[in-house]
Amino acid sequence: MIQAGVIGHPVSHSKSPLIHQHWMDRYAISGNYTAIDIAPDRLPGAIQDLIRKGYAGFNVTVPHKVAIMKLCHEIESSAKIIGAVNTVVIQDGKLQGRNTDAFGFIENMKAALPDFSCTQPVTVLGAGGAARAVIHALLHDGAPRIAVCNRSLEKAEVLQTMAPDRITVRNWEDRAALSGCGLLINTTSLGMKGQPPLEIDLAELSDQAVVYDIVYAPLLTDLLKQAQAKGCRIVTGIGMLLHQARPAFHAWTGIMPEVDEALTRKVLA
Ligand code: ATR
Repeated sequence: MIQAGVIGHPVSHSKSPLIHQHWMDRYAISGNYTAIDIAPDRLPGAIQDLIRKGYAGFNVTVPHKVAIMKLCHEIESSAKIIGAVNTVVIQDGKLQGRNTDAFGFIENMKAALPDFSCTQPVTVLGAGGAARAVIHALLHDGAPRIAVCNRSLEKAEVLQTMAPDRITVRNWEDRAALSGCGLLINTTSLGMKGQPPLEIDLAELSDQAVVYDIVYAPLLTDLLKQAQAKGCRIVTGIGMLLHQARPAFHAWTGIMPEVDEALTRKVLA
């Protein structure tokens, strides 16, 4: 009987139990995946509890993604580079921290557009934790030039240090300067249900460009609608959420699960 879960505070909104339970049913795994609410001051003790109870591992969401790193015995290089852990595997009572967001981002891209390769300039909107994972994935995939455009320029400048020869920074006011851009990615929270809209003029963007929004509620954001209206190919954000969960499920069951239509429908319902 495999025990796993997601830790956060709050955590009841998390889609992870639905995703992992779907795969446990589909692959006939005997197990339990639950949402575990842990207040920040209780984190070390609560993690000891999970170890004692024989958990195979757990996913990590806000606000624990950075704090959990101090409790890990080992941290994978991608998680170190991204600066956050979203998956912890427990082996012999020891915690191994991983980050599967970069994998989720790129796998979703490949699933949506199998022929796409990152050879043209990329523009990334945003410089938060999600942007860091996206940029790590893009660099790994060989993107030659990445422009990071963020409201707080100093946060973009911190991301630039990931690869100073391939990354440039741009003021938020210049976000419509998109001529020559082959891939535009929104990693900000703008356009998400309950958040302000993402205001951007796509007039300079080529209709050959791809537009990827990691926001998935709504699934078709205003940015994606605008891009579609121009004839651009689009990538929605729901697949990133689903694909990032795959290596975690693999870690605690040994099975690399598939993202299927039924799961996508369930998560969007
Ligand atoms: P995550 O970890 O999900 O990336 P985050 O670290 O809070 O979340 O980052 C949110 C991103 O959305 C940031 O790039 C943020 O810009 P700042 O770095 O300037 O804060 C961006 N963002 C949020 N609200 C914004 C707004 N109203 N206008 C422009 N950018 C905004």
